[in-house]
Amino acid sequence: MRLPVHNTIADMRAQVAAWKADGLRVGLVPTMGALHAGHLSLVAEIAARCDRIITSIFVNPAQFAAHEDLSTYPRDEAADLEALETTKTDCVFTPSAEEMYPSGFTPDVLLQGPALGLESDNRPHFFGGVALVVGKLLTHSQTDMAIFGEKDYQQLLVIRHMVRDLDLPVKILSAPIIRETDGLAMSSRNVYLSDEQRPIAGKLNQILETLADSPAPPAQAEAQACEALLAGGFTSVDYATIRDADTLAVPDETTKERRALIAARLGSVRLLDNMAAR
Ligand code: PAF
Repeated sequence: MRLPVHNTIADMRAQVAAWKADGLRVGLVPTMGALHAGHLSLVAEIAARCDRIITSIFVNPAQFAAHEDLSTYPRDEAADLEALETTKTDCVFTPSAEEMYPSGFTPDVLLQGPALGLESDNRPHFFGGVALVVGKLLTHSQTDMAIFGEKDYQQLLVIRHMVRDLDLPVKILSAPIIRETDGLAMSSRNVYLSDEQRPIAGKLNQILETLADSPAPPAQAEAQACEALLAGGFTSVDYATIRDADTLAVPDETTKERRALIAARLGSVRLLDNMAAR
């Protein structure tokens, strides 16, 4: 049986309202398509907690800067729908850009807290665009819960803060990173890696593990990680750092858990990874 696909907010809302009228718990899996095993694991994870699942596919223009890859971002809706048929997704929401951002749309979102630094230093537009689209998706869908991958760890914290600060009645769940056999975190953008770049990309996770396990003072461990990345063939390092896992601030005596995070570039491909640190 083919999955129902809704292109309009009104249709998707009507579907959710019907499910909720039947007392069903509804979950949302927001994606930008180009689905891989990491996305499918989000569906599996949320399926254990709700009765019906919407997966959204929307390449959100608001989170791309003018020089970034919006026009070339991998898109294959037919393959995505086929992949979702094998999951517990009950319907798919694929709005157009005009449906999400009608002409004359002006809001801009200014974020503080965990949105500051790291990704924002490199992609200042990014979290405003993510908050905008996730806020709209949650408002429109009125789902009971939504799930995001830990691969984009800072994004996950930003969304949790937004939901808390705006008192949105939705539970935010997270799911662990799904990796290739050499440890490379799965990402839709991995298709940009050339055959020469692919083995280098696999080193990111090993270097992250060393950073996360290092007994050295953070500044020293971070410098060693940067050196290892450059020696391993990465073109440049945006950050390799240990942060407070809840706030992403530099750890201090109040820090309970720490997170190691790396963003590094291989030519024009930007790779992210993170894990719990000692
Ligand atoms: O992580 C992503 O794929 C996107 O940033 C999200 C959360 C679907 C918003 O467009």
